[in-house]
Amino acid sequence: MTRPVTRTQVGIVGAGPAGLMLAHLLHRAGVDSVAVDSRSRTEIEQTHRAGILERDSVRLLVDSGVSDRVLREGYQHEGIALRFNGVSHRIDFEKLVGSSVWLYPQTDVFMDLADARARDGGDVRFGVTDTRVVDTTGDRPGILCTDADGLEQEIRCDILVGADGSRSMTRHEIPDRRQYYREYPFAWFGILCEAPPSAPELIYTRSERGFALISQRTDAIQRMYFQCPPDEQVEDWSSDRIWEELQSRVAGEDGFQLKEGRILEKSVLPFRSFVCEPMRYGNLLLAGDAAHTVPPTGAKGLNLALADVRVLAEVLQQVIVEGRREALDDYTSRALNRVWKAQHFSYWMTTMLHASDDAGEFDVRRQLGELETLTGSEHGAAYLAEAYTGWPHG
Ligand code: PHB
Repeated sequence: MTRPVTRTQVGIVGAGPAGLMLAHLLHRAGVDSVAVDSRSRTEIEQTHRAGILERDSVRLLVDSGVSDRVLREGYQHEGIALRFNGVSHRIDFEKLVGSSVWLYPQTDVFMDLADARARDGGDVRFGVTDTRVVDTTGDRPGILCTDADGLEQEIRCDILVGADGSRSMTRHEIPDRRQYYREYPFAWFGILCEAPPSAPELIYTRSERGFALISQRTDAIQRMYFQCPPDEQVEDWSSDRIWEELQSRVAGEDGFQLKEGRILEKSVLPFRSFVCEPMRYGNLLLAGDAAHTVPPTGAKGLNLALADVRVLAEVLQQVIVEGRREALDDYTSRALNRVWKAQHFSYWMTTMLHASDDAGEFDVRRQLGELETLTGSEHGAAYLAEAYTGWPHG
């Protein structure tokens, strides 16, 4: 039996936020695409990911007509608190750089995008297996896979995009790629709990017992994290032990206490810094986590993926609509400019706020000196505010 062949302009491996946002932007530019993903839609929706959108990520969702739900159901945050030595210091984004971020979970971004694709008649195939990409340097590259009904499928296109996440298989198609890594000797223990918010904005805490992040979801559900060893076992953590640990990390002379509630979910989240260069080989281009990952401390992962895709949509429009193939040559350098800035920012936030077993007393004092420098100076705080709210698209 010969398998059916679908002909499209852009074949996208990965239908997470990066793949779907690309498909949406291409559709608006009159370019058609097919996106495939090995996960089901429900599986993607049930994965808890980070929750902060830069201002330009919000604008992209709203202005490109995906949805304005982020403005109705998201929460605008005009700053964050940095807490150390038991005292909170507010970083006022609006005052420092005239910008804000929005608390709006990645799951909701994904749902809005999947709904927009369905609304606009997009071809998105979830739950496919045995995915392979072929002929990446030829003029009719393709995706071969088995669909959710067990039927073999072939998708032939002009350009292939790998938006298949941190465990990307498309990345391996790039020979002679350089891969840059940084591993960290810690992970995050994350919980979702049923409680009202403990504070109006996010609190990034450095304590002697390690880092903690107090984030939020809704008026009734909260998201919190604390630094743990990478091999930590969730079963070893009872609710009482989790609350005791979190409370002790945020404790201070101001008497601040977290509002506790039933823990709905707990997991250990390992992370690393990673960049793959170049992000293109022949007619294959990578976007988002497939090409780079950052530690979550800077809340940059999803925002970087959306920024890649915005550049990529422009490039593909030039190539496909205007016939300017040379635009492909600029993709890596245009995308990586922001990627390396975000790598630095995420690394910096991480090392400034986490405790390390091999840190001596000098390192601890220096870390506190760094936090004092930052929170005690408008110029110091302005860098954090600018990077956290996001560099302009350029
Ligand atoms: C989250 O709410 O899940 C979150 C927020 C900020 C971060 C990381 C995660 O830096």
